[in-house]
Amino acid sequence: MFDVNISKDWIDAIQHRCSVRRYTGAPDKAQLDQLGVLCRKLSWQGVTIRMFKGPGLRNAIRGTDVYAVIICKKGTPAEMEGYAGEALVLEATAMGLGTCWLGGGFYPDVISKNVNLQTDEEVHCVIALGKCGPQNPVFKRRTLEQVCGKTEAELASIGNWQKEAVLAARLAPSAINQQPWKISVDSTSVTIQERGVLINKYAGIDRGICMLHAAVGASKAGRKATWRKTDDGYQMRA
Ligand SMILES: Cc1cc2nc3c(=O)[nH]c(=O)nc-3n(C[C@H](O)[C@H](O)[C@H](O)COP(=O)(O)O)c2cc1C
Repeated sequence: MFDVNISKDWIDAIQHRCSVRRYTGAPDKAQLDQLGVLCRKLSWQGVTIRMFKGPGLRNAIRGTDVYAVIICKKGTPAEMEGYAGEALVLEATAMGLGTCWLGGGFYPDVISKNVNLQTDEEVHCVIALGKCGPQNPVFKRRTLEQVCGKTEAELASIGNWQKEAVLAARLAPSAINQQPWKISVDSTSVTIQERGVLINKYAGIDRGICMLHAAVGASKAGRKATWRKTDDGYQMRA
């Protein structure tokens, strides 16, 4: 579970990614081919990611008609969708492309038809992809202390990989930027837990995105993440 090969390029991508809603064009063929290869690698354990070009995105997205659809078998933990989808987002960012997670910004009927959605499958999100100008993220996020109750120095005194994991996790994108997670840290683990928010429809997907960021942070410190389910979230050891 959550066994994605983390690319070193994703460490920088976390710092440079922001949601892009105005694009200068669709990805070119070589870029689509590269993303297609990753989609196939990320498609397992109940999640399939497929790339499409054509109608399907609502007007909030301009300048590209390319998107990835995250298809999941009913009953798949939503965290898996977030984890795999964000891997695609970070790879695309590292390639210089813009991305935007969309929970509402697509036409469900068009997407269902495109993917030939089966009765045991669901689509909760798609990801817009395209060429764009420089991404200049302004991270409007809860502070480190709000997220984990610790300062950067306190995290560092617990462990470098824990510090890097939390710093990267804090920057994760989430639906309506709600950041529906809290993080607890000790000498052997980092745990991403639920935090109650007003609209929690995408909380599981958001948590999976946050988990992938934490795993990328740990990889910056030279560690490989493994995850296990807890009562109210997922615990990483690395
Ligand atoms: C699961 C999910 C669903 C989202 N749905 C939408 C959407 O329907 N429309 C939109 O414009 N942005 C959507 N977003 C993008 C968020 O609004 C954005 O990630 C958040 O405000 C943080 O901003 P940033 O990505 O620029 O850091 C979604 C993000 C996530 C993770």
